[in-house]
Amino acid sequence: MRIGWWGGALLIGWAWLLSWDRGPSVSPVALSFASASGPEEAHACTGILQDSGALQAVLTAVSRYKTTYVILYSDDLGFSIESIEDPILLSLRVGVPAGTPAADLAQKHRLLRRVDYPATLAALRQAIIDVLARKIDATLLWAPLAGLLVIELDPGHRLSMLPLAESMPPPATFSSPSDSSAVSERVVRCRDEVQGTLEAYGVVPAELLAPPNSAGEIPASLEPPPENIEEARRGWDIYQTNCERCHGPDAISGGLAPDLRERVRRLTYAEFFQTVLQGRVEKGMPSWRGLLKPDDVRLVYQYIRARSAERLGPGRPS
Ligand code: HEC
Repeated sequence: MRIGWWGGALLIGWAWLLSWDRGPSVSPVALSFASASGPEEAHACTGILQDSGALQAVLTAVSRYKTTYVILYSDDLGFSIESIEDPILLSLRVGVPAGTPAADLAQKHRLLRRVDYPATLAALRQAIIDVLARKIDATLLWAPLAGLLVIELDPGHRLSMLPLAESMPPPATFSSPSDSSAVSERVVRCRDEVQGTLEAYGVVPAELLAPPNSAGEIPASLEPPPENIEEARRGWDIYQTNCERCHGPDAISGGLAPDLRERVRRLTYAEFFQTVLQGRVEKGMPSWRGLLKPDDVRLVYQYIRARSAERLGPGRPS
């Protein structure tokens, strides 16, 4: 991996930077080897990350997105995330800055596959790198920080950012306006670049967004539901209406699509849930997001599992 000059500087340590973190602080002396890979295209924020005073000034000066948080994810996912309530998030690995308002949000929306990151600049930068490398699927971040970091990390614009409709307080370090002496011309230019970057990613400030419309009831857990023959019977209807034409009658492969009785034994419930909502559109499996509610997915799972275990015979369950 090539470590650019920002990278070198960051990897060494800005751990102390965000107030919610009490991590180790590292001497800035180490920054000197950061320029190893030579010059990169200059932009208004060049050098800001290495200059804690300027960084502080920039992030407190971003006014438009002060209470905005984003879900940042890779276009490689092949689908878009529609809101924090999108059930697809339940099956995705979502990076969460521990101990921040974003973590409370993750808790509230029961993001089950969350991956905690320390709320330090270096760790949150790593979260974005992990999204780009598909080690995680998405990450929650405070918008100004996300804007600043993607300038460096996502020159090819491979990431998408979904703003969360809920306004939340900024990380404590950046909540008070910086003293005017720190707001140099350089700071103003970088701040404008951060705001412009967020605009380019289509991020609408949280204050301007209407409250999200509910994406249906979110299941409390992605553990497989306990066996329930009554639910399995109801699942037959959903299967018949939506799945039978490809996966065949009675969940026996109709030739077009796999035999789900066999598949359901190999997939985890999370994988099943994700496959059904997300589909595999390029392979001919449609996405059922927006068409089936999480409850419906559970019922159809119950049906297929009951067929698989032969607790239900072929035909319409009596
Ligand atoms: C238009 C045809 C079609 C319909 C309708 C359809 N599927 Fe599929 N499904 C497919 C195909 C084709 C695949 C195989 C995709 C692949 O090769 O990865 C598939 C794969 C799957 C898989 C993944 C199997 C595995 O091995 O990973 C699951 C689970 C699944 N479908 C469930 C459903 C459910 C539940 C429904 C109804 C709500 C449904 N499908 C409706 C075509 C369909």
